[in-house]
Amino acid sequence: MKMCGIAGYTGKRKAGELLLKSIRNLEYRGYDSVGMCTLSGQGIEVRKGKGKVSEAAPELEFSSLPGTTGIAHTRWGTHGVPSEKNAHPHLSPSGKIAIAHNGIIENYLQLKEELRGADFRSDTDSEVIAHLLEKNYSGSLRDAMLKTMKMLNGTYAVCAICADSGKIVVARNGSPLAIGLGVGENFIGSDVSAFVEHTKKVVYLEDFEIAVLGEDSVEVFDREGRQVSPEVKKIDWSVECAQKQGYKHFMLKEIHEQPRVVRESVSAPFDFEMETRPERIFVVACGTAAYAGLTGKYILEKQAGIPVEVAPASEFRYSNPVIGEKDLFVAISQSGETADTLAALRLAKQKGAKTLGIINVRESTIAREVDSVVYTAAGPEIGVASTKAFLSQLVALYRLSSKLSGKELPLSSLPGKIEQVLLRSKSIRETAKKYFRVYNFLYMGRNFNFPVAMEGALKLKEISYIHAEGYASGEMKHGPLALVCDEVPTVAISPRDSVYPKMVSNIQEILARNGKVLAVATEGDREISGQATDVFEVPETEEELYPFLTVVPLQLFAYHVADLRDCDVDKPRNLAKSVTVE
Ligand code: M6R
Repeated sequence: MKMCGIAGYTGKRKAGELLLKSIRNLEYRGYDSVGMCTLSGQGIEVRKGKGKVSEAAPELEFSSLPGTTGIAHTRWGTHGVPSEKNAHPHLSPSGKIAIAHNGIIENYLQLKEELRGADFRSDTDSEVIAHLLEKNYSGSLRDAMLKTMKMLNGTYAVCAICADSGKIVVARNGSPLAIGLGVGENFIGSDVSAFVEHTKKVVYLEDFEIAVLGEDSVEVFDREGRQVSPEVKKIDWSVECAQKQGYKHFMLKEIHEQPRVVRESVSAPFDFEMETRPERIFVVACGTAAYAGLTGKYILEKQAGIPVEVAPASEFRYSNPVIGEKDLFVAISQSGETADTLAALRLAKQKGAKTLGIINVRESTIAREVDSVVYTAAGPEIGVASTKAFLSQLVALYRLSSKLSGKELPLSSLPGKIEQVLLRSKSIRETAKKYFRVYNFLYMGRNFNFPVAMEGALKLKEISYIHAEGYASGEMKHGPLALVCDEVPTVAISPRDSVYPKMVSNIQEILARNGKVLAVATEGDREISGQATDVFEVPETEEELYPFLTVVPLQLFAYHVADLRDCDVDKPRNLAKSVTVE
């Protein structure tokens, strides 16, 4: 069971060098082990090992692999510990076929049983694909793949090469796979960042399609082996978007991109119409996207007066939700691949709800399956911690609210204000220096800033490994207040809005118990700055718009704390960017 990055190349250049770059770009998808194989006169040579690309590559010397055709993989596994034997590519028993796989083969144990006597060298579900391809092979890797696909249950993007031919064969069902079309060369990637520096022309495979790539040809077939004409699309972002551009980490760069992202999201196309007003709206997502959804509930209920239910996708799918034809189901996902969100969407569709996706990655599975899609204008988000995607999701939800209510808010005033918050990054780092050795944090907020408290805590815990919990401020007295002491600081999101007096009381309660308070406050608020231990100021704005501003110092604070603790900010332990398994 994996979420991984797959890359492939066939052409005239050295595959090892090209593929090394590709898997560096895809590493955000998973990074517990890495591997590559290429094809040359000597057959298939595989090199693989444990760890991140930067850890494994020097010893494995991928660039020196011979040949101009190859496949590569960066893994985040759950079947089998990170190790050389479990890293991809996996070889067939004779060594003449190699595969890299992303997804989960649900019936792998049964298939292994059927292959009784076969010598499996890894603990993965994926290795069974290499065995089946060899068993089904009688001169054509394409035909072997068609047969094998019919035997697999589960999700997969598979990339295979065979020592008998210089071609790459790929298959897809439920896991992303993109083909980059070059001149005299062709590419494979789990997403286009694997090859965007070489070509802007891309074909996205549909489920149950396979493709055969030679250096001068790409042929696509349906599950019965009939050739189909794929639509060639143009990648609308440049290679620079997926580079750090002088920032120490992608996360920092992505935080600083937010003024542009909000500006573009405000004016991006918003193609969503509903003939009748929905009776209820269900917003379903995971992690940061779910906190964006929760903020959306506040604005949609306030402006449009439509009841909104927000559920983590992992709960929605098992909760027997009462949803039907008169309801609107909104799935929010940066990657468009999150397994729980996808399953929730499918359930909502089964029950007849109209579905809308707020999605960042074009042509992703969720984007393809919803009735309508609004693409967020965040551009590629590489850091595992979601930042700019959150703000772009907020814009989409606020625009949805305007559409349903006819009421407008001055969203275009936000980019300039976010820029002002970003100018304070240095002073936020100074504050981070005071706190980066703390073990526990509380975050609290009310109304529009309650989801921001949850999001601020999530940011801190996921990248700095400091325990942090977000609460609705009114809940503090019902339990969490017991944790407050001089060693457990509280971040209080307390801009000048309608619940401000209540936040001031909550801050008093913390201070009275020897707790330190880091307040996010409106610029020039003397009352708060006179009381709080530390203050992160944000410009004044409309009550409903504060989340766009108050979340930014919390992103920066989490970033600087994690960096001061020497954490791998962009690739936090145990996490991966795209959670394509349950
Ligand atoms: O790709 P998605 O937006 O569906 O991902 C949802 C969550 O996995 C994601 O937001 C996660 O919580 C982030 N790492 C948080 O920073």
